[in-house]
Amino acid sequence: MEIKEIKYKSSGYEQSLVLRDKILRKPLGMKLTKEFCFQDKEDFILGMFEKNRILAVLHLKPLSDSVFKMRQVAVDDSLQDKGLGSRLVLFSEEFARKKGCKKIVLHARKTAVSFYKKLNYKITSEQFYEIDIPHFKMEKEL
Ligand SMILES: CC(C)(COP(=O)(O)OP(=O)(O)OC[C@H]1O[C@@H](n2cnc3c(N)ncnc32)[C@H](O)[C@@H]1OP(=O)(O)O)[C@@H](O)C(=O)NCCC(=O)NCCS
Repeated sequence: MEIKEIKYKSSGYEQSLVLRDKILRKPLGMKLTKEFCFQDKEDFILGMFEKNRILAVLHLKPLSDSVFKMRQVAVDDSLQDKGLGSRLVLFSEEFARKKGCKKIVLHARKTAVSFYKKLNYKITSEQFYEIDIPHFKMEKEL
């Protein structure tokens, strides 16, 4: 198993789109759209792979030199709750630190808040709605 950076529009990126659609959109009766994915080109994209199969994905979008937004965190459904998501988040924090990032912010789905809390992310907002589901803003100083 290895974690590596995925280049926008590479074959790894195409695999990550399938995973994001399956894990983050289909359960909501939605689809990933081209318009939504257009913003991916500004992101650092990290993928966890076994041989050449993608298992998990995570994006970091620089909002400034020192603040990155974590988004599109998804672990393949058959592999959830085995520690992969935590490993990918911790790897991404180290990756971000090396790029000069001092703080990571994110919009956590309500169902994932406890996952991020275990990784020491703190809630910084009231509940709000995004893609029609409840979210909370969370952040972590690196
Ligand atoms: C949320 C998600 C990224 C977590 O990754 P994971 O590999 O399943 O989680 P891990 O095994 O590393 O850690 C799970 C820990 O968080 C807890 N947890 C809380 N909410 C969880 C959730 N929704 N899914 C899985 N674990 C959750 C588990 O109890 C576990 O605690 P433990 O270590 O004490 O056993 C993954 O389950 C996923 O892709 N879920 C669907 C998409 C999603 O919600 N993405 C996040 C959008 S903000």
